[in-house]
Amino acid sequence: MTVESVKPATPDAPELREPPLAGGGIPLLGHGWRLARGPLAFMTRLRDHGDVVRIRLGPKTVYAVTDAGLTGELALSPDYIIAGPLWESLEGLLGKEGVATANGPLHRRQRRTIQPAFRLDAIPAYGPIMEEEAHALAERWKGGGTIDCTSEAFRIAVRVAARCLLRGRFIDERAERLCTALASVFQGMYQRMVVPLGPLYKLPLPANREFNRALADLHLLVDEIIAERRASGQRPDDLLTALLEAKDDNGDPIGEQEIHDQVVAILTPGSETVAATIMSLLLVLADHPEHADKVRAEAEAVTGGRPVAFEDVRKLTHTNNVVTEAMRLRPAVWILMRRAVTDTELGGYRIPAGADIVYSPYAIQRDPRSYRRHLYFDPDRWLPERSGDVPKYAMRPFGVGKRKCPGDHFSMALLTLVTAVLAGTFRFEQVTGSDAATRVGITLRPQRLLLTPVPR
Ligand code: HEM
Repeated sequence: MTVESVKPATPDAPELREPPLAGGGIPLLGHGWRLARGPLAFMTRLRDHGDVVRIRLGPKTVYAVTDAGLTGELALSPDYIIAGPLWESLEGLLGKEGVATANGPLHRRQRRTIQPAFRLDAIPAYGPIMEEEAHALAERWKGGGTIDCTSEAFRIAVRVAARCLLRGRFIDERAERLCTALASVFQGMYQRMVVPLGPLYKLPLPANREFNRALADLHLLVDEIIAERRASGQRPDDLLTALLEAKDDNGDPIGEQEIHDQVVAILTPGSETVAATIMSLLLVLADHPEHADKVRAEAEAVTGGRPVAFEDVRKLTHTNNVVTEAMRLRPAVWILMRRAVTDTELGGYRIPAGADIVYSPYAIQRDPRSYRRHLYFDPDRWLPERSGDVPKYAMRPFGVGKRKCPGDHFSMALLTLVTAVLAGTFRFEQVTGSDAATRVGITLRPQRLLLTPVPR
């Protein structure tokens, strides 16, 4: 570990230090091999080297932030934008004009357009769909047999996001196609990000063909959904109507490409993250039957034995704490990236313009400096009398600042409802062949979770 000091920009400015270089790098590859071999362990151990550390990925220096407070500063500072390899590969595949990858005035305008569909007071309108989908899932599982949690979690996540935000019969008919396309696209995108072998992905291999087919179908589906909504002449109060009627800064309708990219940019993060979290929650219910029983008891106390309804969600406080604790230990979004647009400072360290900066919500949310018994699953740490012990920015699975996830209220309502419905209906047991190890992809989720739902 080396610490160098850097001359201040002006004589009065405090002297800024060069962040220490993390140990364990090797010539040429730097820390890349460690990151590839064990990304979660690598990101977690960086805190031993400092609050901000430099890592080398091949010839490139990347800055990693390991202190909760500094991740908040980073996310709130205007000196950083959304950029870096993760976003560039997303742009290449999903489109350049969506809210998740835009910056500056375009991003501000896009957030203004989509925000009404995600406001807290807009969520109850989605209640009937969330309720219908959660109970339909439980009904299907009553048939018995083994549940492949990956496809089932994807299915409900995609169906709910698409049905709530892009209302219409055309969605019901296309939900299955959307699920298949999105699942293959996510699998292929992660591979292309961690193993960026550009030309290899152009070879006519079966896996590449399947990825290209899925990506083409995703874009085609979005075009079909937009065209049918236009042809129907209907304008329900939903996100798609907001996008179709959005104006740019000159008051002109936004272009077709932007509408398309916006739908993709909202559906894709919306379904992958929710699906990953549902899988983690199912694992919690199987691994911690005592918490599953407590969730069930709470649901019964709130409903008096009738089916759980959307209106119950705000009273399901323990269930909500179970969801929060599951997201603490296995945040779906485990790594985030920014780029400095100017020479700047973070925690007394010099950050040069153009630097790529990463931090890991997974590492931050498992930091023993922020949490007592940091690896222990304890939903009660989110009780009002205890949650104040958690330092600011030590629990931000939805991010913070102007890039904060717009889908936070939507997701928490859905996840709480689904957890209460499923824990109330079944006990879960892992079956032979199930592999609950954490799979690191664009999101974190169990590798291949196979469960038997046993009706209560
Ligand atoms: C468990 C569920 C979810 C988690 C954990 C999650 C997490 C996140 C995180 C960490 C970010 C990035 C914040 C940053 O860069 O600082 C993000 C951005 C985003 N999320 Fe979510 N998300 C979830 C669900 C959803 C849903 C349901 C939707 C929409 C249907 C959605 C749409 C988006 C969009 C559009 C962005 C980009 C926002 C921007 O850059 O302005 N997410 N999400």
